[in-house]
Amino acid sequence: MQAKIVTLPGDGVGPEVIAGAVRVLQAVAQQAGHTFSFEEALIGGCAIDAAGDPLPDETLRACEGADAVLLGAVGGPQWSDPTAPVRPEQGLLRLRQHFDLFANLRPVKAYPALAGFAPLRADLLADVDILVVRELTSGIYFGPRQEQGDGDSAWDTMLYTVEQVRRVAHVAFRAARERRGQVASLDKANVLASMRLWRRTVTDVGREYPDVALEHVLVDAAAMHLLRNPARFDVVLAGNMFGDILSDEISVLAGSLGMLPSASLGNGTFGVYEPIHGSAPDIAGQGIANPVGTILSAALLLRHSLGLDAEARAVERAVEAALDAGARTADLAPDRGSALSTAAFTDAVLSHLEQVPLRG
Ligand code: IPM
Ligand code: MG
Repeated sequence: MQAKIVTLPGDGVGPEVIAGAVRVLQAVAQQAGHTFSFEEALIGGCAIDAAGDPLPDETLRACEGADAVLLGAVGGPQWSDPTAPVRPEQGLLRLRQHFDLFANLRPVKAYPALAGFAPLRADLLADVDILVVRELTSGIYFGPRQEQGDGDSAWDTMLYTVEQVRRVAHVAFRAARERRGQVASLDKANVLASMRLWRRTVTDVGREYPDVALEHVLVDAAAMHLLRNPARFDVVLAGNMFGDILSDEISVLAGSLGMLPSASLGNGTFGVYEPIHGSAPDIAGQGIANPVGTILSAALLLRHSLGLDAEARAVERAVEAALDAGARTADLAPDRGSALSTAAFTDAVLSHLEQVPLRG
């Protein structure tokens, strides 16, 4: 097949991890006989520097003409002045909003090879396989706000409509059907009106999926249960901000924030794929960032936007095989001396990918 992929490397370690993932996609294309074309565009701080806008029109037009977008990370200390009128993160939020990418899928797996390294006990990590479905284009991120005023107050609004909750709830229930048939919906219905609407709406949608078990968990308690007993969770459905916070929290189950991929999807097959980690300015430019989150995001791109499930699984298995064989980037290595660079880790993944037959 032919596919057009736009890459938005962004800031910090973004370009380094994108380079690794593009090499993996190119290898997949070559092995399976596909033609992927790549076009690079600006987003975030580098776009502010070059064009005064974290999401230039040119970038939006390029994305509109693509089948999928692979994004690195945005942000950095040079653009973090709280009084600045434009910030890198606005580019990412506008991109999600422009394409109405309301469902953010964040799979979290604990890899047996990393069990000894993760900060949680190995017995708690056995069988951890969670899919976070985070609502991505509404809630407190996009509600009415007042930033300036008289300088003595500022506010954001957590606003949800029934339709905004319904559509993301359907995504969660459909995903659960393909998995272990459970949805845990997180909210704060004991305090917030918007979260009572969330709970009521998820319950309503759940009636259409009698084969899926639904439980409602208060988000504060969920933050504890997700670490105390992570294996009991299958699909975790959450609003925009709760999903943001808890997905960083449970990245410790996977050993490192650098491991987790994400897919941001709307109603069609188009999607934006990005690791959940940030631009990591402290290690940028050193070639030591963990590319796994971005490589696994490329796998999600193959699966969700291009319909290439076998190829996606081949990439996922190659990552796992590289980890099983002991390949580690610095974030996963107890002594940094034994750690592989971003490029060397990608080489390890590619060598395992070559062993998977993808054609015929
Ligand atoms: C994420 C990030 C973003 C978010 C930031 C960079 C705007 O933390 O994708 O999880 O809050 O959604
Ligand atoms: Mg986040």
